[in-house]
Order: sequence, then C-alpha cells, then structure tokens
Amino acid sequence: MVEPLPITRRRFLSSHKSLVTVFWIAAFASLFIWQSRGRGGGGGGASLYRVNGSLSSVFWWTATTTTTSSDAGEFPRLRPVSFNLTDFGAVGDGVTVNTEAFERAVYAISKLSKKGGGQLNVPPGRWLTAPFNLTSFMTLFLAEDAEILAVQDETLWPLLPPLPSYGYGREHYGPRYGSFIHGQNLKDVVVTGNNGSINGQGVYWWKKYRSKLLNHTRGPLVQIMWSSDVVFANITLRDSPFWTLHPYDCKNVTITNMTILAPVFEAPNTDGIDPDSCEDMLIENSYISVGDDGIAIKSGWDQYGTNYGRPSKNILIRNLIIRSMVSAGISIGSEMSGGVSNITVENILIWSSRRGVRIKTAPGRGGYVRDITFRNVTLDELRVGIVVKTDYNEHPDGGFNPQAFPVLENINYTGIYGQGVRVPVRMQGSKEIPVKNVTFRDMSVGITYKKKHIFQCAYVQGRVIGTIFPAPCENLDRYDEQEQLVKQSDSQNATDIDYEI
Ligand SMILES: *[C@@H]1O[C@H](CO)[C@@H](O)[C@H](O)[C@H]1NC(C)=O
Ligand SMILES: *[C@@H]1O[C@H](CO)[C@@H](O)[C@H](O)[C@H]1NC(C)=O
Ligand SMILES: *[C@@H]1O[C@H](CO)[C@@H](O)[C@H](O)[C@H]1NC(C)=O
Ligand SMILES: *[C@@H]1O[C@H](CO)[C@@H](O)[C@H](O)[C@H]1NC(C)=O
Ligand SMILES: *[C@@H]1O[C@H](CO)[C@@H](O)[C@H](O)[C@H]1NC(C)=O
Ligand SMILES: *[C@@H]1O[C@H](CO)[C@@H](O)[C@H](O)[C@H]1NC(C)=O
Ligand SMILES: *[C@@H]1O[C@H](CO)[C@@H](O)[C@H](O)[C@H]1NC(C)=O
Ligand SMILES: *[C@@H]1O[C@H](CO)[C@@H](O)[C@H](O)[C@H]1NC(C)=O
Ligand SMILES: *[C@@H]1O[C@H](CO)[C@@H](O)[C@H](O)[C@H]1NC(C)=O
Ligand SMILES: *[C@@H]1O[C@H](CO)[C@@H](O)[C@H](O)[C@H]1NC(C)=O
Ligand SMILES: *[C@@H]1O[C@H](CO)[C@@H](O)[C@H](O)[C@H]1NC(C)=O
Ligand SMILES: *[C@@H]1O[C@H](CO)[C@@H](O)[C@H](O)[C@H]1NC(C)=O
Repeated sequence: MVEPLPITRRRFLSSHKSLVTVFWIAAFASLFIWQSRGRGGGGGGASLYRVNGSLSSVFWWTATTTTTSSDAGEFPRLRPVSFNLTDFGAVGDGVTVNTEAFERAVYAISKLSKKGGGQLNVPPGRWLTAPFNLTSFMTLFLAEDAEILAVQDETLWPLLPPLPSYGYGREHYGPRYGSFIHGQNLKDVVVTGNNGSINGQGVYWWKKYRSKLLNHTRGPLVQIMWSSDVVFANITLRDSPFWTLHPYDCKNVTITNMTILAPVFEAPNTDGIDPDSCEDMLIENSYISVGDDGIAIKSGWDQYGTNYGRPSKNILIRNLIIRSMVSAGISIGSEMSGGVSNITVENILIWSSRRGVRIKTAPGRGGYVRDITFRNVTLDELRVGIVVKTDYNEHPDGGFNPQAFPVLENINYTGIYGQGVRVPVRMQGSKEIPVKNVTFRDMSVGITYKKKHIFQCAYVQGRVIGTIFPAPCENLDRYDEQEQLVKQSDSQNATDIDYEI
C-alpha cells in the first residue's frame, strides 16, 4: 500500500535528520514541561475515591514542592461509581496476564448502566492483557505511568467476522483478528487519563506480517463499532499491530489531546485514526507520527461498501501535527465506496512526510468525495503536498463493477503554506473520474527544486483566486483577489503528471 522512498529523498533526510530531530526534541521538551507544569504537583494531600462501591480514602504525596494546586489526585471522579483495576486482582508487573481482571471490571461496570455507569481506574504500572471489550456508560482512566500492554500471542486474539463494508479482512480472506481494545453497539464510552498509554507491542505483528506468518488480517489497537457518544482524550496510543484507532459506523465521536505513535518506517499499516462510515466526528489538538497515513477517512470497499451504503460525513479535523514518512498526513480513501462528504481540515502542520493531504480512489469504488475544505494547512519538508489519485487499483476480489466511477467535486484549498516541498500539487483526474469544482486560494509553498511542472494536473476543473505560488496548471480558471474572472481555461483536460520528479 506504500511506495518505497526514492534514493534522493533518503539522502536528503539522512543529511537533515539530526537537525530536524534536535528541533523536534526541543519543541516537545518545552511542550512536555508546559504540560507537567499545568498539571501541577501539590506538596501533598488526601483525596477520596469510590472503590468497589464504597468510599475509601487514599493518601498521596509528591516530592515536588514548587507549586501548590487543587489537583484532586491521580483519578478524578468522572462517573458515580469507580473501580481500581487492582480490586479485580490485577498485577501491573508487565508479566502477569490480567485479562480476567479487565473482563471482571468491565462486567461490573456493565451492571451500572442505570446508575450512570462506572469508571475503571488503571494505576501506574505495566498491565499486560489479552484483548478485551469495553461496555456502555464506561470511562477507562489511565493514570500517568499506567500502560496497558497487549500480549504478544495471536492465539489469544479472538477472530471476528470481516467488516460488512469490506467483505474480507483487509489482508486475507475470511475472518480477521479483533482489535486489542474493542467495543460494539455501545453508547457513552470515554477512554481518557493523565497521559497513560495503550501499547499494542506491534513489532511482533509487523515482523510476522512481513514474513507472511499470519493467516488473518491483523487487528487494530482500538476499534469501536456501531456506537455513539464516544470520547478519546488525554492519553497515548502506541505501536498498534495495524490501524491504531478505528471508529466504524459510529456517530458523535470526539478525539482530542491524544498522542499517537508508531515507528515511521517498518510499521506497516499503522494508520493513526481511520474514521470509517462515521458521522459527526471531531478530531483535534493531537500529535500523530506513524508508519502509514496519519488520518485516513474511509467508507467501505467497492461492491461491499456500496451495498453497506454508509458514508463518512460531518467531520471536523483541526489543530494537529502529523508526520507520515511513508504515506500521507491526511487521506480520504482509497476505500470510500459509501461516500465521503462535508469534511473540514484546518490548522494542520504536516512535517517530514512523504505526502501532505491526499484523496485517493479508483474505478470500481463508486461513491463520491464532495464538499471538502482544507484551510490553513502547513506542509514542511514533503515530497508531494496536495494529491488526488484516481487509479488506486486495489480491489477486494473480482466482483467489483469497473463502471462504478466515483464522483470527486467541490474541493476547496484555502491557505496552503510551507516550505521544502518537491511537488506541491499533483491532481490526477481521468476521463472517467474528472476532478470537478476545485478552488485554490491563498497558497504559498516553498519548493525544493525549480522545476517547471510542479503544479501538476490532469482532468481538473476549477479555479485559482488571487496570487498563488507555485504558478498553477493551465487547467484552472484564473480569478483576481476580487474574484473577477481574469482568464478562463480552455484546457481542463490537459495532462501534465510526472511521477519522475
Ligand atoms: C466488592 O466487594 C465485595 C465484598 O467485599 C465482594 O464480594 C465483591 O466481589 C467485590 N466486587 C468486585 C467487583 O470486586
Ligand atoms: C489502587 O490499588 C493499588 C494497589 O492496591 C493502590 O496502590 C492504589 O492506591 C489504589 N488506587 C486507588 C485510587 O484506590
Ligand atoms: C468482544 O465482543 C465481540 C462481539 O460480541 C466478541 O465476538 C468477542 O469475542 C469479544 N472479545 C472478547 C475478548 O471477549
Ligand atoms: C492533555 O492531556 C494531558 C495529559 O495527557 C494533560 O496534562 C493536559 O492538561 C491536557 N491538555 C488539555 C488542553 O486538555
Ligand atoms: C496458518 O495456517 C497454517 C496452515 O493451516 C498453519 O500450519 C499455521 O499454524 C497457521 N498459522 C497461524 C499463525 O495461525
Ligand atoms: C456527543 O457525545 C458527548 C459525549 O458523550 C455528549 O456529551 C453529547 O451530548 C453528545 N452529543 C449529541 C448531539 O448527542
Ligand atoms: C482532558 O484533560 C483536561 C485537562 O486536565 C480536562 O480538562 C479534560 O476534562 C480531560 N478530558 C477528558 C475527556 O477526560
Ligand atoms: C458539516 O459538518 C459540520 C461539522 O464539521 C457540521 O457542524 C455541519 O452542520 C455540517 N453541515 C451540514 C450541511 O451537514
Ligand atoms: C494556522 O495553523 C497553525 C498550525 O499549523 C496555527 O499555529 C495558526 O494559529 C493557524 N492560524 C490561524 C489563523 O488559525
Ligand atoms: C463548488 O464548490 C464550492 C465549495 O468549495 C461550493 O460552495 C459551490 O457551490 C460549488 N459549485 C458548484 C457549481 O457546485
Ligand atoms: C473556500 O473556503 C474558504 C475558507 O473557508 C471560504 O472563504 C471560501 O468561500 C470557500 N470557497 C468556496 C468556493 O466555497
Ligand atoms: C473534459 O472531460 C470531461 C469528461 O471527463 C468532459 O465532460 C468535458 O467536457 C471535457 N472538457 C473539455 C474542455 O474538453
């Protein structure tokens, strides 16, 4: 699903790597210091918790004496009833397998739905477990230095039926491995904490996948299906076996203040977030650095996606920093057969990545991608900035309809900035899948090579408004800042795509 990095780019990266690394370490160190200050660490105190339905008090203190604060302790009360994972016999030594403790805790919370639900507190420690399911009206709270670790043994991962809108597991026919933390048909689920983490220990899976030792599609780290009112906040997700956070056919999902990490190379398919046939979603204030797409909005694959017929729509994505060395910062597709519409992407920095923002599809997908706005997007040190690709020919099986051409229209790029981009725009429509009604306004992207054809188009209809840099392709109409037509294009279907640059 990804192309290898060309030699020239590798050279460029290795020569600039240390500088870039130093810069980002400095940036994140200051962010970290700022965050720990914000959290405060009082000189000591006491707080009350509800453990196993009864009140008990827990004393705590910290060695820091610099500030005093009203910090309520490790675990704030977010539900009427809370449990401590250790109440269920869990041991956080990184060796004991705690699956039963998690299952018992979730079971206890599942009995509280009429009382406002329950909270499961995960104290500091390394809590190894096999996959487990969440329940409705549940808050999972991870303390600072709490880490939920996935067992490295696929025989302990349940097999689930394929997703109906994909027909098969994405990598193999038949069933697929479930996700590490899973939920389906739920309402009101919150996964949050004080920057604790969920670690999929994915390296085990990546190696087996590359050596072709797996008989089923790998599972995501977290997958929530057919659910509503879902919140992910304030924690780190790390080293997923496959896609990291996969909300599937959900409504009203908020993802905020998250850190999502996987190695930028050799962590195949570790997308950050995959909103899939979801509506009413907010993704914001997060840092994502992974081994595939940072975010990939999807809605099913060819005939299976068309039959399932559930679009992704009304999604707002803002204030993110994303890095994707082998794929793209933000993608729409390529599985988009249920349709994708009304997506806003704003205030985004994509750095040291292969591609910036991408829409990808193919004949056979059907569906549409429409009413998409990219606003205030900064592209730093990228190979290709803005991409539209209409020949992404991966199909589930031979049963797709080759005449099912997706519609791509009403795509608005306003405020596109950055530097060090080799090919700022590559929009490759085709006779069957033309790209219609595209608008570029306020664009200024510094380029690495003074080549001529770096704003590449084929079968693109639309306009540029005002001055934009680099000079746009001839396919687009020119308007001045006052939106008066300056020159109408007579070559919308001209083709100037060069993959050699
Ligand atoms: C709560 O405590 C009671 C009595 O100590 C015990 O029987 C019960 O199993 C506990 N519940 C949980 C969920 O640990
Ligand atoms: C949870 O249990 C652990 C181990 O028993 C204990 O150290 C910790 O203080 C407990 N936390 C709360 C909030 O009860
Ligand atoms: C989670 O729920 C799904 C669907 O009900 C079920 O198939 C699966 O076995 C459950 N997973 C675990 C680990 O219990
Ligand atoms: C983000 O989460 C961290 C803990 O992970 C917390 O300290 C910080 O206050 C949160 N920031 C915001 C803006 O919520
Ligand atoms: C995959 O299938 C083969 C043949 O059926 C079997 O020998 C092997 O153990 C399976 N591997 C896994 C990881 O399930
Ligand atoms: C969306 O979910 C949040 C969190 O559960 C909830 O507070 C909010 O009321 C929900 N919004 C709608 C429109 O249901
Ligand atoms: C995330 O952390 C911030 C700062 O501590 C807090 O205000 C917010 O309520 C937290 N969000 C969730 C969903 O727990
Ligand atoms: C488009 O999505 C936004 C959320 O980003 C939502 O507020 C708005 O109502 C949606 N517009 C339509 C026409 O549904
Ligand atoms: C544009 O996005 C950047 C982050 O990339 C942010 O710092 C800046 O405040 C945004 N500008 C506006 C006008 O929102
Ligand atoms: C073109 O797209 C813009 C959004 O970018 C939309 O407002 C406008 O209505 C579209 N025009 C047509 C003719 O569909
Ligand atoms: C594109 O988005 C910008 C910023 O939101 C807006 O000002 C402009 O009207 C939009 N253009 C079209 C054609 O919808
Ligand atoms: C460009 O191609 C589309 C079909 O892909 C066609 O509808 C349109 O008329 C063509 N435009 C020009 C100017 O030839």
